[in-house]
Amino acid sequence: MHIGYAAVYLTLVVIPATCARFRIADTFKGRDFFDGFNWETLDDPTDGRVNFVDKSTAMKSNLSFASADKFIMRADHAKVVSPDDRGRDSVRITSQKAWDDSTIVLDLSHMPEGCATWPAFWTLSQQGPWPHGGEVDVIEGVNLQNSNLASLHTTPDCIMDTQRPQSGSTVSTDCDATINNNQGCGTQFTVPKSYGTSFNNAGGGWYAMQKTAADGISVWFWSRMDPDVPAEVRNNNDSISPKSWGMPSAWFPSTNCDYASHFNAHEIIFDLTFCGDWANSVYPNSGCGGDSCTDFVNNNPSAFTKAYWEVNSLRVYTT
Ligand SMILES: *[C@@H]1O[C@H](CO)[C@@H](O)[C@H](O)[C@H]1NC(C)=O
Ligand SMILES: *[C@@H]1O[C@H](CO)[C@@H](O)[C@H](O)[C@H]1NC(C)=O
Repeated sequence: MHIGYAAVYLTLVVIPATCARFRIADTFKGRDFFDGFNWETLDDPTDGRVNFVDKSTAMKSNLSFASADKFIMRADHAKVVSPDDRGRDSVRITSQKAWDDSTIVLDLSHMPEGCATWPAFWTLSQQGPWPHGGEVDVIEGVNLQNSNLASLHTTPDCIMDTQRPQSGSTVSTDCDATINNNQGCGTQFTVPKSYGTSFNNAGGGWYAMQKTAADGISVWFWSRMDPDVPAEVRNNNDSISPKSWGMPSAWFPSTNCDYASHFNAHEIIFDLTFCGDWANSVYPNSGCGGDSCTDFVNNNPSAFTKAYWEVNSLRVYTT
């Protein structure tokens, strides 16, 4: 009897875990972004030196552009910004849909780079209000950084162990957005070419983020020429099995962070801001020179020619 129970237990626990497959639910490629995302014009909540423009302005001024196989979002790189203006023209887009248990795969050929930039690819509770329902920052960094920071921002009582199975290194462990100036719990990537100029010079790569009640939140990254990128990711397969991808760069398990009370269905956001709470505060030591971050953004349009996202595809898989 005892052996019998043990066998049943193993069947229930081990097999679902190793066979967890996700199937394609939504694909965004080229013009799909114009149908599935909203262009937001709010004042940047992180106090960036930015003017988020609406969809028709973004399309007319070519700050958002789609071809059959590319979607591009950029900052203005022609105009000097007056000190009286809200900031440099840029784009922030949010998906209309939100997803519960899911794995998102972003095939990205270029991300915004350069002094004063603060781009992010992230997910957020559609229900809110922030930080209820959680925030997951998948790609984020500032200025001349070359390695990615993935982090969570949550309501209180969500803690990560410093040592856990992830290839990146733990920067902070308390995900509570109300403390430590909203630092959240973050993991800095140690695999090369995960961010900025190094990412772009390698032709970009793939980011994947799995978010499930069973396994918490994981983020993987593969540079374009990485021989270890899973074939099912490289080939855009309709069915994927993240369990087979090996150790993630960042893992945020639910061990000391009850999933149900901290997370719900998330929408997907891309944005590009300048200076603001993070990029501005570290600007003096960023290697970007003597101007204030704000003056740099206002007066140097040509410094922003590489401040653009170029997306090959964004795929959302669900169980
Ligand atoms: C708009 O941007 C795209 C992508 O950078 C570029 O290929 C295209 O030529 C631009 N169109 C105009 C009218 O400038
Ligand atoms: C991916 O899909 C292709 C074509 O549909 C198939 O031949 C291949 O076996 C799949 N690969 C994986 C790893 O699932």
